[in-house]
Amino acid sequence: MRRGSIFQLVGLGVVFGAGAAAVALLVPWLPDPASEQADRIDFLFWFVTVICIAIFALVAAVIVYAVLKFRAGPDDDADGPPVHGHTGLEIVWTAVPAVLVTAISILSAVILTQNERVPRASAGAAPDPLRPLVVDVVAQQFAWLFKYPGYDNATSSTLRLPVNKTVKLRLTSLDVIHSFWVPEFSQKQDAVPGLITRLVITPKRLGTYPVICTELCGLGHALMRSQSEVMTTSKFRQWAASQNQGAGGGGAAGGPSGKALFVSNGCDGCHTFKPAGSTGTVGPDLDQLRTEAARANKPLGPFIRESIVDPDAYVEPGFQKGIMPGTFRTLPAAQIDALVKFLSGSQR
Ligand code: CUA
Repeated sequence: MRRGSIFQLVGLGVVFGAGAAAVALLVPWLPDPASEQADRIDFLFWFVTVICIAIFALVAAVIVYAVLKFRAGPDDDADGPPVHGHTGLEIVWTAVPAVLVTAISILSAVILTQNERVPRASAGAAPDPLRPLVVDVVAQQFAWLFKYPGYDNATSSTLRLPVNKTVKLRLTSLDVIHSFWVPEFSQKQDAVPGLITRLVITPKRLGTYPVICTELCGLGHALMRSQSEVMTTSKFRQWAASQNQGAGGGGAAGGPSGKALFVSNGCDGCHTFKPAGSTGTVGPDLDQLRTEAARANKPLGPFIRESIVDPDAYVEPGFQKGIMPGTFRTLPAAQIDALVKFLSGSQR
């Protein structure tokens, strides 16, 4: 091979490599990692991307060089010269990819193992609900609920996490398969009815990030979103303490308000209801409940209650049976009462 050809090949390789690198670097493909696990995955992404850019540059350079250099003349109908192959080259182009793919597999296995690791509380230390913090994630059509068993089962519709503390999520679902995803944490995990799946997160940046369902789970799938708020440890402890007071000393007046229940049960994901500030359109507009009750020929209160515990008993024109899950009939009676009161209280 002549020196000129090598220069041309290398030149083409540099051009294609620089182009691909620019596309990789200048376009913000992924959000900034906000957890230790996301950092590791980010590193793996870049490791693979660099290999891909190098191979792309090599292959593109050889193809373009061959197209330009070995182009047949317009009236050249002859077969090309018989070529016998090249054992040395064949060994190289088999061995190099084998090494690269093996390296990617080993690195992936190491990172996946590290990302599932939960630091163990040191023996003899005082029990601390933050080592590690456990959060039960309950998915249902079309809402997320987060429970904190270390803090008297405090519940929240926002995933509150203390920064720099490892948290273990235990996910499950009340109805169909959902999938938990926070892009800034880079990981996804399915929430499956009858199973408990796990996900370990160590947030390292304060901020609010979206929680997104990434498994098509029904009509409201696209609306099944929540928030993850990473806060300082002291703020988190404050929040947890305020939750416990509410649950412990509340008595009859205690318990979550109708509005809080409306949100924590995900009603706001599907229904428009002004007092809750929700604008969902999967289900009927709850600002019109009086008209809807009249259409169903039922008094307002019993109509609302029936619609919560037996959603298919009356279906508003323009909507279908079987969309609203029947799981709300298992809510504690006091919570259903509070919801009925909240919904009927603001009807004109
Ligand atoms: Cu839940 Cu999609």
